[in-house]
Amino acid sequence: MIAGVLQFEPAWGVKDANFKKIESLCRNAKLDLLVLPELSTTGYLFLSKKELSSHAEEFPGGETSSFLQELSIKTGGFVVAGVAEKDEGIFYNSAVLFGRKGHMGTYRKVHLFSTEKKVFEPGNLGFPVFDIGVAKVGMMVCFDWIFPEAARTLALSGADIIAHPSNLVMPYCPDAASTRALENNVFYLLSNRTGEERRKTLHLKFIGSSRIIGTKGEVLSSADKEERLLSCKIDPQKARTKRITPQNDLFSDRRSDQYKL
Ligand code: ACM
Repeated sequence: MIAGVLQFEPAWGVKDANFKKIESLCRNAKLDLLVLPELSTTGYLFLSKKELSSHAEEFPGGETSSFLQELSIKTGGFVVAGVAEKDEGIFYNSAVLFGRKGHMGTYRKVHLFSTEKKVFEPGNLGFPVFDIGVAKVGMMVCFDWIFPEAARTLALSGADIIAHPSNLVMPYCPDAASTRALENNVFYLLSNRTGEERRKTLHLKFIGSSRIIGTKGEVLSSADKEERLLSCKIDPQKARTKRITPQNDLFSDRRSDQYKL
């Protein structure tokens, strides 16, 4: 299958401009799975719930859902995107999975970062895994990476691929992602935004460094700080065996009875 990761700088609060940019950066791309960054259509820094309320949407049902379904049809595969989700007056920093027929699933960021805690609620849907036919896909969002339980839970639930929409500001994740891929024998699609955002006294610079990583932690494709689409061929079957020597299996050798979790 062909996996794609888009790295770009969303314009804060201007969905139309972001839809156009995503569409243009993905023009003519044919992908089985495309991953977009965290909060990819709205921008990242929200100063209050009131402000967030006019940008967040229900999934499915809003203009972002229509856009993502269209994008899935145009690219010929599935799309994972970071979005601002509103559900019964509560806001979640979510990742959604869309296919040509529409919404297939939602993951709500479990580990909120810094000032996100003021406007979003922590996720309450666990770490679900979705079958897209050619592979099983699990999602996590940005800061989830520093809790290895997130990737492990996805892998133990059968994910062949971890799709990771991000707005990274600290430099550690891209290398750690190789470790998450290796220790779980999964593919890892890290889609990070680039550029910066200033909102009143808040100022963040995002690190870029998006990557497509193989099951042994090898970097198959990577970006620096530029806006671009990464893509490469991967074989999800490689994630299906957890055997690493004739005597060792990453999952059945686990000693849950000895761990304190
Ligand atoms: C982050 O979780 N956006 C750093």
